[in-house]
Amino acid sequence: MKQTITSIQKAKGNRKLSMITAYDALFAKLFDEQVDFILVGDSLNMSFAGHEDTLSATLDQMIYHTQAVCKGAPNTFVICDMPFGTYTNKKDALKNCIKVFQETNASAVKIEGGSSKANIIKELTSNSISVCGHIGLMPQNVRIEGGYKVKGKDEQSIKTLIQDAIDIQNAGAFAIVLEGVKEEASKQITKAVNIPIIGIGAGVEVDGQVLVWSDMLGLFEAFKPKFVREYINGANIVKDAVSSYVKDVQSLNFPNESEKY
Ligand code: KIV
Repeated sequence: MKQTITSIQKAKGNRKLSMITAYDALFAKLFDEQVDFILVGDSLNMSFAGHEDTLSATLDQMIYHTQAVCKGAPNTFVICDMPFGTYTNKKDALKNCIKVFQETNASAVKIEGGSSKANIIKELTSNSISVCGHIGLMPQNVRIEGGYKVKGKDEQSIKTLIQDAIDIQNAGAFAIVLEGVKEEASKQITKAVNIPIIGIGAGVEVDGQVLVWSDMLGLFEAFKPKFVREYINGANIVKDAVSSYVKDVQSLNFPNESEKY
């Protein structure tokens, strides 16, 4: 059954939520009805488009991929990640999120940022756009921070993250993705708010988990963050299959009698 904001929020404290990313209809169809929600993450700019970071993903690209994912997974709650530079002020954020809602079937958008983005989240939620927050390690800050830095390592950092989560919740966000945070910090943040905290590299003391599909299927080979669990080695499976195909073509083993007209 397709989740709703209410059913997602009711899960807090009762059952763990599962989120996975998807970028196309083919894979979204395989994930449909298995997970609670699918995130069309701007990580697609790296694993799908081959760029070094997420920053050059455009709004039109996110809309294109979200349309495909919604087609493939009609029974799953889909969230569109708002790309870098599309929510720097209330006016642009509202205009761009309305475009996403009008051109796709996404049920919500996700934006990166803590307390400083609360006014933007409030603008969106008060205009009927459901928002998932994203705090902790924020990949759209990679250039300003000079890398992907784990957060929540000291008391001050934990205090700031808790305030970020509270301000986002008060602005009307229905859930928060918490990325790259020490487990003790995650635990305190999860306790501090009533909305679900979905962790990635944030330990087990949260309300649910999200993984990037191409990481958990072992297809993305450029690097493997510590928190990723590879459920299959997709890269080797695909390479072996292609190698077998090439051998079959060369040896005239493909196509055989049943594969001809
Ligand atoms: O873009 C993305 O895939 C994300 C996940 C890492 C949560 O934001």
